[in-house]
Amino acid sequence: MSNNEQKGFVLWMTGLSGAGKTTIALILEKELHNRGLKIERLDGDVVRESLTRDLGFTAEDRAKNIERVTFVAKLLSRNGVGCVCSFISPYQSVRDHVSQNTTNFLEVFIDAPLDVVIERDVKGMYKKAIAGEIPNFTGISDPYEAPENPDIHIRTDQQTPAESAAKIISQLEELGFIPALQLA
Ligand code: ADX
Repeated sequence: MSNNEQKGFVLWMTGLSGAGKTTIALILEKELHNRGLKIERLDGDVVRESLTRDLGFTAEDRAKNIERVTFVAKLLSRNGVGCVCSFISPYQSVRDHVSQNTTNFLEVFIDAPLDVVIERDVKGMYKKAIAGEIPNFTGISDPYEAPENPDIHIRTDQQTPAESAAKIISQLEELGFIPALQLA
């Protein structure tokens, strides 16, 4: 394969709700589309309205959610499509399963401290979770296992979404998963 062709890959963004996964995924999707690359975006909030709408948030259901998404990402990545995935995916063992079953997997830790995401509370869910109105809420009443050795570590409390996306894109270029932009 020449250096000018993209490879299939799975960019797996994990992190707390409100850490910025979807915001960064949308920027990445736009930028990669603009470069004429084949991209699909898989997002927890969207997938849970269709493919996994029957599932809740117990450890077992979260594992099933990710298992089904892995099946889709596997088919796409092995056929040359870049998958931009954003899921809390709080368990390391489940993320390792995705890694073992997809092509060119990259674990991207979208990291913001818990107090920052509680303060942001983009969807108003932390307030409810703290009040005990949402059971099994990640970071409040359910665990989040932070990646110990992520391929890319993004601190969204320290840089803008555009800076975060640029860092991820340059990593994709360095790894040869996407062609580097040629300067005119
Ligand atoms: S995962 O744990 O199975 O990977 P996923 O990323 O698909 O989660 O879905 C997370 C989204 O579901 C959150 O962004 C939030 O909007 C919503 N949500 C509803 N209930 C919960 C909960 N108990 N814990 C976390 N997120 C929840």
